[in-house]
Amino acid sequence: MTKITLCNERKAKPDFSKLGFGKYFTDHMLLMEYKDGKWGEPEIVPFKPFEMSPASNILHYAQGIFEGAKAYKNDKGEITVFRIDDNFIRMNNSARRLCMPEFDSAKVKAALFDLLKLEESWIPTAKGTALYIRPTMIADQEQLGVHASKIYKFFIILSPVGSYYAHGLEPTKILVEDFYTRATIGGTGEAKCMGNYACSLMGGEKAASLGYDQCLWLDAAEHKYVEEVGSMNMFFVINNVVVTPALVGSILPGITRNSCIQVLKKYGYKVEERRISMDEVVEAANNGTLNEAFGSGTAAVISPVGVLGYKGKDIIINNGQMGPITEFLYKKITGIQNREEPDEFGWVTKVN
Ligand code: COI
Repeated sequence: MTKITLCNERKAKPDFSKLGFGKYFTDHMLLMEYKDGKWGEPEIVPFKPFEMSPASNILHYAQGIFEGAKAYKNDKGEITVFRIDDNFIRMNNSARRLCMPEFDSAKVKAALFDLLKLEESWIPTAKGTALYIRPTMIADQEQLGVHASKIYKFFIILSPVGSYYAHGLEPTKILVEDFYTRATIGGTGEAKCMGNYACSLMGGEKAASLGYDQCLWLDAAEHKYVEEVGSMNMFFVINNVVVTPALVGSILPGITRNSCIQVLKKYGYKVEERRISMDEVVEAANNGTLNEAFGSGTAAVISPVGVLGYKGKDIIINNGQMGPITEFLYKKITGIQNREEPDEFGWVTKVN
């Protein structure tokens, strides 16, 4: 059993019908500290600000990684999580890339389950909502030299969420970014590290200023091949074949991306993981074979893409509507997550 220090007073809950994404946090969090070459025990403590040195190395050199997962509760009060082991495997991969210590995921998972049970009243139950789980690891040594830290904090905070995009399931407008770059081969693009997201802000702001929801990153070497959206992996349906960029090292190996591929293959769809150029996307749009486009992610779930802005022109996909394969995947994956569909892939774990 995890050591628990309870908060003095629980916060008032927000209106669960107007959650948005990542705005509210539960009363407690998980905290585990690394020093003298080893991790301490995970503990549940009140959610509150950290006290840290202004010279802490996370604040200067961004040695930090995170994950995103979700917990669900049904009307019987049963709590479940979706593919949480895969999140911890990916987090330990990210830790190795950022020269951070790996952690015992079985121990952290058990402590997370205790936290979820304690925060059960924060798990929204309406369709399209969940309790977002944000495991995070930061370097916390007081040192300005550029070296891997010897002291770390691992924490998990929880946030009741609705849809990631303000307009919910309505198809998104994505601007293809052909100047700025998110990640390069040999860089940190496939790790879920904080710097990747800081680096993506300029493209996101540019897209927003031009009326788009997000930007789509291209490869750094030629600005030719599709990579990812930063908050989502990208899929296209061309001539009824589902195509997604191959994981070449600069793209996040999305857990929802992997779920989409497994579901599609099982249900007889043709899926290709390969390089896909914007020239190919434009050609498919011009000759009428670009059937659908969508993004996948824990926060974004399955988000249809209705418009792709590229080189000053808007490519309208499926008349700006969600296509049938996107809808099939959305229903299948959210159905498995909400336990309205059988867990045919063994992705759902019971917490209580
Ligand atoms: C997630 O989907 O969980 C992520 O971490 C993406 C984030 C930008 C919200």
